[in-house]
Amino acid sequence: MSLSASILAARQLLQEAAHIAVLSGAGISAESGVPTFRDAQTGLWAHLRPEDLATEDAFRRHPQRVWDWYAERRASLAEVQPNAGHRALAEFQHRHPGRLTVITQNVDGLHQRAGSTGVLALHGSLAADRWLDPCPAGRGPTACDVARADPGRPPRCAQCGNWVRPAVVWFGELLPEDQLRQAEQAASRCDAMLVVGTAGAVYPAAGLAHQARAAGARLIVVNPHPSELDGLAQLRLVGGAAQVLPPLLDF
Ligand code: APR
Repeated sequence: MSLSASILAARQLLQEAAHIAVLSGAGISAESGVPTFRDAQTGLWAHLRPEDLATEDAFRRHPQRVWDWYAERRASLAEVQPNAGHRALAEFQHRHPGRLTVITQNVDGLHQRAGSTGVLALHGSLAADRWLDPCPAGRGPTACDVARADPGRPPRCAQCGNWVRPAVVWFGELLPEDQLRQAEQAASRCDAMLVVGTAGAVYPAAGLAHQARAAGARLIVVNPHPSELDGLAQLRLVGGAAQVLPPLLDF
């Protein structure tokens, strides 16, 4: 089937769905210029080791190195914009209130910037900070804590020396309980799930696609390359998200 024929078939399937869940990954932001993780040449993990940069242990061993890497990613995010794929999802939500839930593994905030509401951000947010260890005073880091740090140095608490770290979910860490619970509810009650721009290699996020399928939802995968979730898909739309989502959701 050609891409345009598959888009038409998928569009029909979505039109019949009372509730749609979207599971997005790094690929949806690729056309905004944000690098993915696992693409062969351009993915971040093609040249860097996650265990050196995206674990609590890495931060404890080398806080400066990890802080610098996140500072670079934060700075480059300031230069990018949501693309037509993010916008198509947000516009669909506005036309059909309550019908589509966005579940994302992305920490780039582009779904939210495109205007999507109620986004379930399973892996946290690159824009936010939190303490590395629980704060004995029970407060979160403030802009003052961050501003007080030497330029370029990871901020620390003036009282106890606790480090400030990015509020993202690192390998080996638990997902935010409330977001995961809501994502599981959306996956088990949806009639159709759109799996967009994810390799489907990281759990528990990828498990949501299995959960949706097991509960009877139709799965549509949008990805220019094969993914680990292809076997669950009723339809595969082999193309980029910014190309495929606008005609798919134009109703
Ligand atoms: N449109 C849609 N999909 C695309 C596009 C595009 N324009 N370009 C690339 N892709 C696909 C790739 O083919 C790949 O399957 O996006 C997927 C990106 O996969 P990953 O880089 O593994 O990203 P993701 O699945 O989101 O990773 C999950 O891994 O390292 C962690 O915490 C990180 O949230 C991330 C998690």
